[in-house]
Parts: sequence; C-alpha cells; structure tokens
Amino acid sequence: MKSLVVCYSVSGKTRLVSRVIAEALNTKVVEIKETKTRRGRFSLYVIGSFGALTNKGSKIKPLDLNLKQYDRIFLGSPIWASRPAPAVNSFIYQTDFDDRSVIPFFTMGGDNADKALANVRAKIEKSGGKVAGSFAITTNKVSDKQIVARAKEAAKQYSG
Ligand SMILES: Cc1cc2nc3c(=O)[nH]c(=O)nc-3n(C[C@H](O)[C@H](O)[C@H](O)COP(=O)(O)O)c2cc1C
Repeated sequence: MKSLVVCYSVSGKTRLVSRVIAEALNTKVVEIKETKTRRGRFSLYVIGSFGALTNKGSKIKPLDLNLKQYDRIFLGSPIWASRPAPAVNSFIYQTDFDDRSVIPFFTMGGDNADKALANVRAKIEKSGGKVAGSFAITTNKVSDKQIVARAKEAAKQYSG
C-alpha cells in the first residue's frame, strides 16, 4: 500500500510528526503552505482561530501532487479552535479523494481531539475520502523526543 503524508504546520510540531510517519512508511511529506505567511500573534491566533472556527479555508500555494499514485493519504494539521487549520480545510475542499483512504491526524496543545476529528472526518467524506484511522498527539510541555516516540507508536498501527 502506497502512502503519502500531507501536512500543514506553523511551529513545526505537525511537521515533526509527519516526518516520523513518512519515514516509518517509507514515503515523503508534502507540506501545505499559505500564500501569506502569518506574521504576529494577531494574524495567527485571532484571524487563524476565527477562520478555523468558521470552517474557512485560506489561500494556499498550489501543490505539485498526483494523488492517483497513492492508496492512502495521511493528513496532518495542528488543532486550531478545536478544528483543523484553515489551510488544511482548503486542501480538503479542493481535493477529490476519489474513494481513497485518508488518515487525519492532529497535534494539539490540549488533550482532546474529538471535536477536531469529527469535523475533519465530515469534510474528508464530503470530498470523497474514506477515513481509515486517526490519531492525535499533545505537544504542549512535551519534548520533541517524546513527540517522536509517540509518532513512531502511532505509525506502528499503519505499517506492515
Ligand atoms: C491559532 C491557534 C489555535 C489553537 N487552538 C487550539 C485548540 O483549540 N486546542 C488545542 O489543543 N490546541 C490549540 N492550539 C495549539 C496547537 O494545536 C499546537 O501547539 C500544535 O501542536 C501546533 O502545531 P504546529 O507546530 O505544527 O503548528 C492552537 C494554536 C494556535 C496557533
């Protein structure tokens, strides 16, 4: 089964988890980037949270990506306001998953991803994907080493 990891990350935690997953599954990470860098706390926390809360997308750079080559897409986002980040919404809205398996995952400051997972599941299904698993990793006051260990643990259930 050929997998791909797609992620969006501002402070690097979701990127870190994505790299671990990609390495474990012998594939690469494709990063979603916004056209405008979020500079400053207002743009990130206020506009970012509001966008996430209202299920908005944001402008993202075109991705050089042919999903047809993959059976399974891991899709990583930080949790913003209990939801996926707007850039990840944009990716989902503009993608036809064409019945592919999608495994959404989150990194988060807190420890509850239920709302975010329900939210992203509905969006993925609306774009033609089948949610075939999910996981979430807490990053607040957790060392990168521990995050890597948790990501390796999560990857185990999808390898082999
Ligand atoms: C705008 C914004 C909103 C956030 N909202 C939440 C939240 O609702 N729940 C939560 O657990 N963490 C929240 N966080 C924390 C991030 O999910 C967490 O730090 C995540 O690991 C960051 O991922 P990144 O380093 O890949 O950007 C928020 C962070 C930002 C910047």
